[in-house]
Amino acid sequence: MRILVTGGTGFIGEALIPALLDKGHSVTVLSRQASPSTIAGVTYIQQLEEITESIDVVINLAGASLAGKRWNTAYKDEIISSRVALTRSLGEYFSAAEQRPSIWLNASAIGYYGPREDEELSEDSSSGHGFSAKLCRDWEASAVEAAGDARVCLLRLGVVLDEGGGAYAQMAQPFKMGVANWLGDGKQWLSWVHRDDVVSAFCFALENDQLDGPVNVTAPEPVSSRGFCFAMRKVHRTLVAIPMPGFVMRAMVGEMADELLLTGQRVLPAALMSVGFSFSCPSIDDALLQIEGER
Ligand SMILES: NC(=O)c1ccc[n+]([C@@H]2O[C@H](COP(=O)([O-])OP(=O)(O)OC[C@H]3O[C@@H](n4cnc5c(N)ncnc54)[C@H](OP(=O)(O)O)[C@@H]3O)[C@@H](O)[C@H]2O)c1
Repeated sequence: MRILVTGGTGFIGEALIPALLDKGHSVTVLSRQASPSTIAGVTYIQQLEEITESIDVVINLAGASLAGKRWNTAYKDEIISSRVALTRSLGEYFSAAEQRPSIWLNASAIGYYGPREDEELSEDSSSGHGFSAKLCRDWEASAVEAAGDARVCLLRLGVVLDEGGGAYAQMAQPFKMGVANWLGDGKQWLSWVHRDDVVSAFCFALENDQLDGPVNVTAPEPVSSRGFCFAMRKVHRTLVAIPMPGFVMRAMVGEMADELLLTGQRVLPAALMSVGFSFSCPSIDDALLQIEGER
């Protein structure tokens, strides 16, 4: 199939695109960059008007990083428009195209559910409150509208773990320096997923039309912040454990602390499990072994 990937130069795209090429798909990446670091066999474009063949599938990953900068009004606007306005512009382009894509895989995030306590959340759970929840709702709505009659999967990603980027590099930093820590009271849930399973979930969603609508892409065994710390301590030889108090996090990163770090959500991949998807890293111990290797 001919696949257009937005945000394909990022942490997920750089792992997903080789898997799509291996499966024989042709891949075009829409990037803001004039000279992105490239993957052989991929066509890079900066404008949709550069597309020369009809597109069967859109994989929409682009968006300014939520953890990229402190959330001031200008950066919040960038976070929103880099997703919602970009998705609308894709919709406008394809509504005028001769042939519209038949499959649309759109990234979203478990932030859709907002800060929750111990409640187990599936795709049927309600959306929550806060900036990230509204962002995800608006992004998902713009994707459904842009996709027209295509089959749309809204892949609500958990915290994607792997080496070489994403959240793990920052999460692992204190442990690598010999200090174990959890955030706040450490009871908040961390619904994580290994990047290999994210790649498999996108490929699965591409090939399986039983998947339609919201799809939680999180490992079946979420952990608390303390549980993550415990698993990391088994991998890294930490000398001391120093919890990071909430007020320190708020002083360091502002509003983001209460949305992304000191609260969480216990998300289960109900849709994926119901169609027989198999995780290569179902537990956090599996994921850390995969990332850090035997020690
Ligand atoms: N990684 C995670 O843990 C995680 C969790 C939940 C949801 N997600 C979502 O999944 C998507 C992909 O994640 P990722 O980790 O691969 O993200 P990433 O590494 O930050 O890459 C996102 C890509 O989006 C493009 N982009 C960045 N800022 C932009 C802007 N202001 N306007 C338009 N495009 C912009 C960039 O591509 P160009 O420079 O080539 O234009 C970038 O490579 C993101 O939308 C993210 O919010 C990720």
